[in-house]
Amino acid sequence: MSTKIPSSQITPEHIYFSRRQFLQTAGVVGAGALIASACGTTNKPAAPTPDPSTLKTSKDTDELGDKLTPYTAVTGYNNYYEFSTDKEDVAALAQDFPTRPWTVQVSGLVNKPKTFDIDDLLKKFTQQERIYRLRCVEAWSMVIPWQGFSLADLLKEVEPTSEAKYVKFTSLSNKTLFPGQSAGWYTWPYVEGLRMDEAMNELATLATGVYGKLLPPQNGAPLRLIVPWKYGFKSIKAIVKIELVKDMPSSLWMAAASNEYGFYANVNPEVDHPRWSQGTERRIGELTRRRTLSFNGYTDKVAALYQGMDLRKNF
Ligand code: MTE
Repeated sequence: MSTKIPSSQITPEHIYFSRRQFLQTAGVVGAGALIASACGTTNKPAAPTPDPSTLKTSKDTDELGDKLTPYTAVTGYNNYYEFSTDKEDVAALAQDFPTRPWTVQVSGLVNKPKTFDIDDLLKKFTQQERIYRLRCVEAWSMVIPWQGFSLADLLKEVEPTSEAKYVKFTSLSNKTLFPGQSAGWYTWPYVEGLRMDEAMNELATLATGVYGKLLPPQNGAPLRLIVPWKYGFKSIKAIVKIELVKDMPSSLWMAAASNEYGFYANVNPEVDHPRWSQGTERRIGELTRRRTLSFNGYTDKVAALYQGMDLRKNF
């Protein structure tokens, strides 16, 4: 039995978000599943919630006027298969994940390969607040105030050569720390990729924090990618290596099901995933579904990258 003070008593109204409500509004559970969830998960120790007064954002909404998703939902409902395939279990399982010491190797087709200590990255690049919508291929979405810096700024530091056409990202590989990596269904470690011009786009962000605090482990600490115009699975967590390469890299999801997951993964309401319609989405915390926007609402910033491409074929 948990002796924790209920978060409803320590969290102001605008941050507090009941677990039951967010599951219901996420559309991820029916009545039966709610009972199963209540029986199966409420005794698990939750990850510690920070004092709400220490959470910081400069705005309550994104540039479209959409409300920020509460901290408890952002940090309590996570896709992180290295820990669990159950989104509600990740926070507790990840709470002791060690994020120091941590280095990120940036190498491959570059003039100045370098391995950066995470704390040097935090000092070197000004951490800016970037409020972005995260749209998961499972058709739920959130609005999240990240802190981080441009991927482009890090890439410029190592001077990519003209041969570099793609960027390949690799997450930590460690079966002791990541129990999910012992499951043989996936080709570990988690790997993702971007085309060079996508990686240099101003929206492509390396995140180190959320709501004004360092990233918690469940959200990909100490360093994760954010590519807000693409489905959430591109936003790889716990990055240890960034390589500039000549050929289009494959990804964990492309290797798992190439008919379901493509390299581009741009949010596209006109191209359904075989298992989930992409026309609408459930914003976590809202009761009615909303229409999904092309490129997740970032068309003006990214559509030019795909001019002349067939986006049904290049899904
Ligand atoms: N990165 C790693 N290493 N492992 C994962 O399982 N899941 C992805 C992405 N990055 C994942 C990952 C998916 S499917 C999504 S939707 C987002 O992380 C979820 O990020 P969040 O938990 O911060 O909302």
